[in-house]
Amino acid sequence: MCGISAVTGREDVVTILYESIRNLEYRGYDSCGLGVVSNGEVAVRKNTGGVEEVNKKEHLTHLRGTTGIAHTRWATHGRVTQANAHPHSSTDGRFSIVHNGIINNYEELRSDLKAQGAAFLSDTDTEVMAHLIAKSYEETGDVEKAFVAAIKHLEGSYAFCMVTPLAPGEIYCARLGSPLVLGAGKSVNFVASDVNAFLQHTRDALVMEDGEYAVVSPDAITVRKLADGSLVRRKPIRIEWDAETSKKGGYAHFMLKEIFEQPQTLRNALAATQEGVARMAGKIRAARHAYLMGVGTTHYVALAGQYFFSRLAGRHLPVVSSDEFVDLAVVDSQDLVMAVSQSGETFDTRRGIAFAKEKGASTAAIVNVMGSSLSMGVDEVIMQGSGPEICVVSTKAALAQMVILQRIALESALQEGRMDKAAYARAHQVLQAFPEQVSAVLNERSGFVRNLADRTAGYHNWLVLGRGIYYPIALEAALKLKEVTYLHVEGMPAGFLKHGTLALVDQNLMSWFLVPPTEEKELNQHTISALEEVKARGGPVIGLMFEDDQRAKRLLDFAIELPKVDPLVAPFLQLIVAQLFSYFTALKLGRSIDKPRNLAKSVTVG
Ligand code: BG6
Repeated sequence: MCGISAVTGREDVVTILYESIRNLEYRGYDSCGLGVVSNGEVAVRKNTGGVEEVNKKEHLTHLRGTTGIAHTRWATHGRVTQANAHPHSSTDGRFSIVHNGIINNYEELRSDLKAQGAAFLSDTDTEVMAHLIAKSYEETGDVEKAFVAAIKHLEGSYAFCMVTPLAPGEIYCARLGSPLVLGAGKSVNFVASDVNAFLQHTRDALVMEDGEYAVVSPDAITVRKLADGSLVRRKPIRIEWDAETSKKGGYAHFMLKEIFEQPQTLRNALAATQEGVARMAGKIRAARHAYLMGVGTTHYVALAGQYFFSRLAGRHLPVVSSDEFVDLAVVDSQDLVMAVSQSGETFDTRRGIAFAKEKGASTAAIVNVMGSSLSMGVDEVIMQGSGPEICVVSTKAALAQMVILQRIALESALQEGRMDKAAYARAHQVLQAFPEQVSAVLNERSGFVRNLADRTAGYHNWLVLGRGIYYPIALEAALKLKEVTYLHVEGMPAGFLKHGTLALVDQNLMSWFLVPPTEEKELNQHTISALEEVKARGGPVIGLMFEDDQRAKRLLDFAIELPKVDPLVAPFLQLIVAQLFSYFTALKLGRSIDKPRNLAKSVTVG
């Protein structure tokens, strides 16, 4: 996915435009560019690299103009080159566009346009749109008509912004499948992939829906339906968080900030609508099959949810990764499909929900970003309220989603009569006390975790192992370590090890065990048996364990001892410390922590 932004005002907008694209850099960061309308033309500057790096090369901030577009790229079509960076312009230079999405029929459009004399400068799918607009303008002589006509040739997903000296002061934008929000300011208006682009200037956002386009000028925003040009009337939403919240706040990285924000994230997740939780539990109980779906981190969150429902509510919920959902899930009107998504825009997850709807199933979601497609596109949604998550790798959002799934499982158990009110109340007391315990661990143990990360960062191959609910936590811990350190890391059930993977064990492979609290007698003992299998073959072992576990302490070469907490929240504490360990390992290895190579915050293309 890419980040697109556009601004039009009465004053010069280049600094605002530049800042807006910096605020969207977690959406893609392999190249970027600006296009600004001035002196009867669109001045375009673009190159490969992050926003600051490109500014050094191209002096983006030296541009001048009151209307402009900007883009930061996560390459899908065409290598990471200056020519493939956005904006792209028509041969006559009069129409310049930035795009987020994929145009599936770009090759046939490209050869048609080439045959009609269009000169293509890039290998991207996006460039066809600039040439299509120019061609339609020749036919219509009207910028808005040309923009709409050009779009009607496209198949695929898109969010576009276009500027032209033929309509100085105006931004033309449209969406189908990729997110686009409009920001309403005072004599300056904004268009962007998400609100973080313009939060410093306004918290009044108008979410565009699929099949809509808008014409934005400094004092007016007009939204219309692409199909028939009919006017769309929609109330702006007020964004809860301010620009400051989406800054680093003195932390070295957003990842560290977002890890340390988790006590508050937990309180917000515990404050998320109880009515919504009760309704969701009712829907899950009423469904024949209640599927949980997510991808990347949210797939592992869904897996953790599966264990909560089996253990607390005595109900098995099938979990399918969003990217495989359409091929694997069997759903109809008797079923519920519940998605988990931080951004609410991930293409694979939206495709899974669209498939479920097609089959007549009811849909639900746990989402973080307000106004996102998934938050508006399902029958029942719980907004998790974790605030902006800027670091590409998910930490606080994942924890909040797991806690909300655990609340729904507890509610289902109560509604089912599998848990009495007293036990339910006790569970919630444990959850309410947990944020303080997390603060204590983060403030008191971080130094120790860092020290251990420094001492083990030299291992290039890792296994992360857990049993029961600690298995999905192990998968997420492995993903965190992989994403930010680029080390080869594999998460798996500790019981699975002896059935093949044990062959990998030698002195160069670090095995990281998530040891459950001793109260979880069977889980703890089985995990320690697997630990002994590795030790017996000379493999080094590191572990997250709880203070009273002398047996684990004796066996582990490197141990992170955690204070005793209730088994209900113990997996969450290990998740948080695993995030911190991954952060410090990446710091030791000098990695680009907030923007790991090749990744993007959420992938809005299939
Ligand atoms: C990936 C992100 O692109 O998408 C992961 O790098 C994330 O961190 C996954 O877990 C799913 O994103 P979302 O927004 O649907 O939770």
